[in-house]
Amino acid sequence: MLEVIGLSKTFSTSDGFVRAVRDASFNVPQGSFFALLGPSGSGKTTILRCVAGLERPEAGEIRIGDQTVSSTSGGLYLPTYLRPIGMVFQSYAVWPHMTLFDNVAFPLRYGRQRFTEEEIKSRVKEVLQLVKLDGLEQRSATQLSGGQQQRVALARALVRRPRLLLLDEPLSNLDAKLREEMRRELRELTRSVRVTTLYVTHDQAEAMALADEAAIIMEGNIIESGSPQKMYTSPKTSKAANFLGTSIAFEGIVPSPPSGSILQTPLGLLYCPRPAEAAPGIAFQVMIRPEDVSCHADRPVGLDNIFQGRIKKLIFLGAYYEAAIDLKGLEVQLYLDRHGSWSEGQTVHLCLPPERIAVLQLHGG
Ligand SMILES: Nc1ncnc2c1ncn2[C@@H]1O[C@H](COP(=O)(O)OP(=O)(O)O)[C@@H](O)[C@H]1O
Ligand SMILES: [Mg+2]
Repeated sequence: MLEVIGLSKTFSTSDGFVRAVRDASFNVPQGSFFALLGPSGSGKTTILRCVAGLERPEAGEIRIGDQTVSSTSGGLYLPTYLRPIGMVFQSYAVWPHMTLFDNVAFPLRYGRQRFTEEEIKSRVKEVLQLVKLDGLEQRSATQLSGGQQQRVALARALVRRPRLLLLDEPLSNLDAKLREEMRRELRELTRSVRVTTLYVTHDQAEAMALADEAAIIMEGNIIESGSPQKMYTSPKTSKAANFLGTSIAFEGIVPSPPSGSILQTPLGLLYCPRPAEAAPGIAFQVMIRPEDVSCHADRPVGLDNIFQGRIKKLIFLGAYYEAAIDLKGLEVQLYLDRHGSWSEGQTVHLCLPPERIAVLQLHGG
């Protein structure tokens, strides 16, 4: 529904050029919630602003539905008000001198399309119900809490029934508890109105909780995209793997003679999914999520990839123990069952299930 193809944007500053977005391409399917996830300064806002028509890209094409809204090769650049979008930014910009009703009605009163007072009333009412602010129409915007202001901004973005909703870190100004609550609501809301949503965040947990699909952006490059589950479990690059969560990683080399799905690693021979290229001596990055590793006091029988380690540090955290385990020189952080009997200095056996291991290209990520 939203197609971004080969988008590039460079800013010139007093220190030289900043290549904020470099040849970025991605696709947001109709009705889906798509997260653009990356660290601060990676170019997320710039992409969003290009989609919104607030920034003019120097290369690439942007389509919303069947409409091209920006094409540098075609010399086309639609202004913001002609794009079928609604936006909420990090600073949600609720106008303090207006009532809640007037804040939300604003895009209807001053947009290109004309609405009667009656239509405005019914649309505002509908959208305020959606964000659970009905009944507060006459409140001054300054009398609203942070969470409520966030909802006003959302209502204002939705009131014109945009085809595409653009959200730039909309929850980052809220405290942790409210953020989680709003996260849940946002998910329900965008599903119920079935609006296609492009959501920008640096928070991987937020992206995973909300998104049907996501793209990871670093230094202006989209390095990977797909469903959060897929990228978390089988990332293609170690950069993506590390950005999405903690991982245990080490190098694995195809042994000589090569043997299908076995790599030579600092732990010893390791069973894993068959690597893409299997010529002897080729190195890969081997990655597994700590929660996929099991820890046993006694050496389990009948399992592949059992390696002996030693508990170096143990901290009781209530729900579980946090352990630092020395695994042949590799320090591994694991959560251990609080019902187990663990102690510092104890010898343990870690199992790395072969099917839970990801084998990644060592270079280019
Ligand atoms: N108007 C601007 N002028 C100069 N540099 C900018 C401008 N906007 C963004 N940048 C730079 O472009 C890069 C990407 O910024 P941005 O898209 O805001 O990143 P993000 O939203 O991922 O934090 C940063 O290095 C930032 O400093
Ligand atoms: Mg930003």
